[in-house]
Amino acid sequence: MKNKLIISSLCFAASLTLSAQKSATITINADQGKQIIPKEIYGQFAEHLGTCIYGGLWVGENSDIPNIQGYRTDVFNALKELKVPVLRWPGGCFADEYHWMDGIGPKENRPKMVNNNWGGTIEDNSFGTHEFLNLCEMLECEPYISGNVGSGTVEELAKWVEYMTSDGDSPMAKLRRKNGRDKAWKVKYLGVGNESWGCGGSMRPEFYADLYRRYSTYCRNYDGNQLYKVASGASDYDYNWTKVLMDRVGGRMNGLSLHYYTVAGWSGSKGSATQFSNEDYYWTLGKCREIEDVLKKHIAIMDEYDPKNHVALLLDEWGTWWDEEPGTIGGHLYQQNTLRDAFVASLSFDIFHKYTERLKMCNIAQIVNVLQSMILTKGKDMVLTPTYYVFKMYNVHQNATYLPIELNCDVTDVRDNRKLPMVSATASRDSEGKIHVSLSNVDLDNAQEITINLPGIKATKAVGEMLTSKNISDFNSFENPDNVKPVAFKEVKIKKGVLTVKLPAKSIVTLELQ
Ligand code: AHR
Repeated sequence: MKNKLIISSLCFAASLTLSAQKSATITINADQGKQIIPKEIYGQFAEHLGTCIYGGLWVGENSDIPNIQGYRTDVFNALKELKVPVLRWPGGCFADEYHWMDGIGPKENRPKMVNNNWGGTIEDNSFGTHEFLNLCEMLECEPYISGNVGSGTVEELAKWVEYMTSDGDSPMAKLRRKNGRDKAWKVKYLGVGNESWGCGGSMRPEFYADLYRRYSTYCRNYDGNQLYKVASGASDYDYNWTKVLMDRVGGRMNGLSLHYYTVAGWSGSKGSATQFSNEDYYWTLGKCREIEDVLKKHIAIMDEYDPKNHVALLLDEWGTWWDEEPGTIGGHLYQQNTLRDAFVASLSFDIFHKYTERLKMCNIAQIVNVLQSMILTKGKDMVLTPTYYVFKMYNVHQNATYLPIELNCDVTDVRDNRKLPMVSATASRDSEGKIHVSLSNVDLDNAQEITINLPGIKATKAVGEMLTSKNISDFNSFENPDNVKPVAFKEVKIKKGVLTVKLPAKSIVTLELQ
């Protein structure tokens, strides 16, 4: 059943009447913009999992695959264009079994380990601290180090911080210099454990809160480096975890994390990434949009304990999680990525932009070859996924001022008692004063005529790009890498301060107003 629903930036449903009309109206309140969308909302995550690091980001200097000092050239160039603001590493679950000293020094001397979390693959530690932090420098992004609390010692984590960031004559700085890096790196984000309620140590929140306090005490600020310490946060609907951490850790952390996946459940099949029904598609978007309610509830708890907003919320894992592709190695979480995944990205960003007073970073899982990735590789070949293109089309919103909008569109009931608006949108003004509007028509069958009121905005022209495809299950394969990619979008008119846009069924558009 389709209804008519009015959604404002505060997200309230104002009226419900039956309608078959395929049109929507939006008002952009340009005079109400005050909150900056931190670029870190567009963050990435790279774990030692499957072929994310080895084969995905890193092939080593001696590889036949073209590389820049060991980093794949094609992947590096694609990521450079994406303007990655922050990269989280080395996990995930891997982080709490990772011993950083195994990943420094001459490669031939680095010990191997079993990657117990992810398929029992042998990890040779050839990609370690230097390889990661140098990559961040080359990408010009902030590193986000995930420290080992589950199986590592306080001393080990403290020394890692010293190794990376101390410029003085300290023992760890000397060791770093011996390993070829003279100047300390700047490392801002430090995660003190990951999923400490699960793969990171199966702890109760009260116990973890004390461990956080202990570990973080010894993570020092060296030589002008200022750490931003992040406590391991809740999974999805676990509001008690957030409550206990806010109560017992409070201002000792700069940020508290949260993980939310668009996943059908943790046991049994999660569904195919590429073969799904229309009903499955709408369910996926309903589940993806539920993040809004989850964010609001965690934020409400944080507001209660921290009304002055000192502690940020960091959604440092999010995205779709499907069954692994048939024929791939179990535990490597390799999945294809269709136009459906692109909608999960666009709808998620439209929501994230609204909560940036508290929400300061989001890291999609993961950057290459794992879960909802930007890029897939096979040997020498690489494809950019539909999700990559959404990140690219949306990167104009990085560090721009969020402009609240009111949206009036059709709404559909979807499985699991969720409601799905057929149109999603967001708008921002960048530092040069340019306004960008992103629009998604999630309707599989109907185009939408969208009337956008622009009070107080002087614009006479709009140019943009559109991502769509014949089928919602279309994806980019190694045989057909350009199946789903953005095209110029022309179905737009501006007259007397009103913008009219004709959005085809299942399409995502970003416009620049001129
Ligand atoms: O992203 C894959 C895994 O999902 C991460 O390692 C873990 O933190 C989460 O459960």
